[in-house]
Amino acid sequence: MADRGTPAEEIDTSRPHPARMYDYFLGGKDNYEVDRSAAHRIMETAPEVLVSVRENRSFMNRAVRFLVHNGIRQILDIGTGLPTSPNVHEIAHSIAPDVRVAYVDNDPIVNVHANALMAGKGVGHTSIVMADLHDPQAVLDHPGVRKVIDFDQPVGLSLVAIVHFIADAQDPWGVVATLRDALPAGSYLVLSHTANDIHPDRTEAEAVYNSSTAALKLRTHAEILRFFDGFELVEPGLVQVPFWRPDGEPAHDARAVGYYGGVGRL
Ligand SMILES: C[S@@+](CC[C@H](N)C(=O)[O-])C[C@H]1O[C@@H](n2cnc3c(N)ncnc32)[C@H](O)[C@@H]1O
Repeated sequence: MADRGTPAEEIDTSRPHPARMYDYFLGGKDNYEVDRSAAHRIMETAPEVLVSVRENRSFMNRAVRFLVHNGIRQILDIGTGLPTSPNVHEIAHSIAPDVRVAYVDNDPIVNVHANALMAGKGVGHTSIVMADLHDPQAVLDHPGVRKVIDFDQPVGLSLVAIVHFIADAQDPWGVVATLRDALPAGSYLVLSHTANDIHPDRTEAEAVYNSSTAALKLRTHAEILRFFDGFELVEPGLVQVPFWRPDGEPAHDARAVGYYGGVGRL
């Protein structure tokens, strides 16, 4: 496993990887047997996981559109995941082609696939950076981030389904605060996070992730709300992701979704 702050350089197929499990949940093909088997263990004990990841992805889509419609022209997306269309830059560019996006992830397989995607046409002003959120200052200082993001202009910081991979002992609130303190006024935080107060017992799901390359820490609404300290939450606040500014009527199973999400303005 990578040291904290140092992304792994090799693709490890001996243990499940969250990015590849998430890809499998979303119906992707960039995963191995070890990931699929872990994913099935989670689906058995937390059957809402499929609707949850789909709705989380949809929340990300609506939140990125919100940022761009509110004038944001640069997005720092940490915990990018394997490319799943539409990706952040595709959503942003469908509204404003001049939006710059810096993608950050610590999983080498994400790097390989994202670089291949970047080689495609029409992805101008976009970079992919290998860095670890456990060391937020290293993310902020990374030349690949600095090349794309001007920290004197408002930034859309996207932490979608990633902060739950930071244990309490690693001070995730301090990590988010370090990022916040680097952003100018008018910036936004988009954050979603798995919850432990929607379904009574998700110990088994946490145990599966604990055998993977990144342990998972589910949190309460109050704990997740603290990530927005210093930000002003936009309506409707921190809610189960299908209820954050839905495009239409939320799906019938929306209440089962195990993620909270919100958007805050600095
Ligand atoms: C569940 S996926 C989320 C993907 C995307 N943000 C979304 O919501 O659709 C989480 C991603 O965070 C990455 N990740 C986990 N821990 C990380 C860390 N400490 N630093 C950087 N990336 C991390 C994983 O490799 C994975 O690609």
